[in-house]
Amino acid sequence: MITAAEMRRKYIDFFKKHGHAEIKSASLIPENDPTCLFNTAGMQPLVPYLQGAKHPAGRRLTDCQKCVRTGDIDEVGDAVHLTFFEMLGNWSLGDYFRKEAIEFSFEFLTNELGIPLNMLAVTVFGGDAEAPWDEEAYKLWNSLGIPEERIAKLGRKDNFWGPVGETGPCGTDTEMFYWTGPKPAPQKFDPADKRWVEIWNDVFMQFNRQADGTYVELSQRNVDTGMGLERITAVLQGKASCYDTEIFGGIFAELDKIRGIETPAERTAMERIIADHLRAASFIIGDGVIPGRVGAPYVLRRLIRRAIREGRKLGIQGLFTARIAKVVIDQYGEFYSELRTNAETITSELEREEKQFNTTLDHGMKEFQKMIDRVPAFVEHKVISGKNAFNLYETYGFPIELTVEMAKEQNFEVDLKGYEEAARKHQEMSRAQNEQKFKGGLADHSEVTARLHSATHLLQAALRKVLGTHVEQRGSNITQERLRFDFCHPEKMTPEQLQEVEKLVNDAIGRDLEITCTEMALEDAKATGAMAVFSEKYNDRVKVYRMGDVSCEICGGPHANRTGELGHFRIVKEESSSRGIRRIKAVLEAK
Ligand code: ALA
Repeated sequence: MITAAEMRRKYIDFFKKHGHAEIKSASLIPENDPTCLFNTAGMQPLVPYLQGAKHPAGRRLTDCQKCVRTGDIDEVGDAVHLTFFEMLGNWSLGDYFRKEAIEFSFEFLTNELGIPLNMLAVTVFGGDAEAPWDEEAYKLWNSLGIPEERIAKLGRKDNFWGPVGETGPCGTDTEMFYWTGPKPAPQKFDPADKRWVEIWNDVFMQFNRQADGTYVELSQRNVDTGMGLERITAVLQGKASCYDTEIFGGIFAELDKIRGIETPAERTAMERIIADHLRAASFIIGDGVIPGRVGAPYVLRRLIRRAIREGRKLGIQGLFTARIAKVVIDQYGEFYSELRTNAETITSELEREEKQFNTTLDHGMKEFQKMIDRVPAFVEHKVISGKNAFNLYETYGFPIELTVEMAKEQNFEVDLKGYEEAARKHQEMSRAQNEQKFKGGLADHSEVTARLHSATHLLQAALRKVLGTHVEQRGSNITQERLRFDFCHPEKMTPEQLQEVEKLVNDAIGRDLEITCTEMALEDAKATGAMAVFSEKYNDRVKVYRMGDVSCEICGGPHANRTGELGHFRIVKEESSSRGIRRIKAVLEAK
């Protein structure tokens, strides 16, 4: 029986044998992409190379990429979904195409893994108004021995992959399926039958989708493939779920120890959620993210808090998240060395978040009990109002399911309709407040503040250049005298870095760049790579301010007309604003 670690090695070695260079998994946090919180596929860090840039390791690559898909967060707990997973992949960057890709896949599945032919089926692109059907892929599979009744021709929804987001490389694909039902597998492949499980996807990346929705041919034809490590491991082991494999064995064993119980016959959704979320959280912190209020830090916080709540439901009293993380670090540290390097941060950040959230939850419990006690015993139909339930959520982080569960224990019901209503009202209010703030902040149309505002954009661009693209705006405030800019960065800036930032801003001013403003749809703005502020709720149409090749941001304005109008930029202070957030105050002086 093949384990996940063996599978990973086998895959990479197979492709190395066929001329592929093994590359390291990129960080979970995409570089240079403010529109994506996490890497969701092996190809994502390779986009520049799929678009024609030269990769230093060559034209044939293979790796195992860490991925996080948060779209499924509420489905985690069922037997299939994972927040974090590993994706095996091999790439041809303008090297081989359909024929070799399909032959490699076939040889790996049937020879290396020894999967009998009668357990396999495939799909190919069936064609539509825009593109012809993939006859070549069909014939290739058939000539290798996959019978016609095991090859399904499907539409764009199933056999066209990508791009990630709105724009980028994409193409038709062919997917491979493994029969997980009782043997023998049915002669004819029915793609709707869930017992045929998708195990691998070969994408023939031929197009680049443009912001206007059209497809243009890429300068080179690539192959992008993806095989979910957890899934292939589970199906080859004949397990119905990846939670039943050794991948989660260590985590579950530790969880049993924490709870002081014997290994149970079956795992519950609560246990699966804890295992999945804390595995994901360990990897995310390992890549330099700490819990916070927006963007990736917020997703991380949600994962940790959800795991803690499930822990409470299981009756866990003390701190436990760091203990689970240690298992994750031990299990994966050899392949992903960043987990070892950052082990201390991973466990301490988890513990800090856990302590903080526990305190909040405890306060919430007291508040909850007060609500219960206010209702006299003689009331027959006991209900917690929607407003109160929402308050528990908003102030104490109680998810509605937890409130419902706790209420039930004391024979209370929760007004769920009222809860939805309160949540909706709250959302509307914060949106309105945001718009107000936006207007208020920019109400002063004087030229001085417009110039400081333009300087703020140049500052952000310079910080990202000097410190890295993790720098993002966390706050901005402009008076007649100065600008103040808060941004995420883990440590104090050095005098050299400050000098470099000043210099970059003054260089941009010296180049007297034109500051242009274009109105466009929010999606298009993001697609062009314009910087956005995560916490901001934008309208569907936004303004994008561009300053030459230096800066491009979604922003309400107003701004100066040219950077040359700004004068001399000087940083007067760099200090901590809150944990992980730095604050810069700067002025514009006459030249
Ligand atoms: N990028 C392709 C996928 O994620 C291989 O399925």
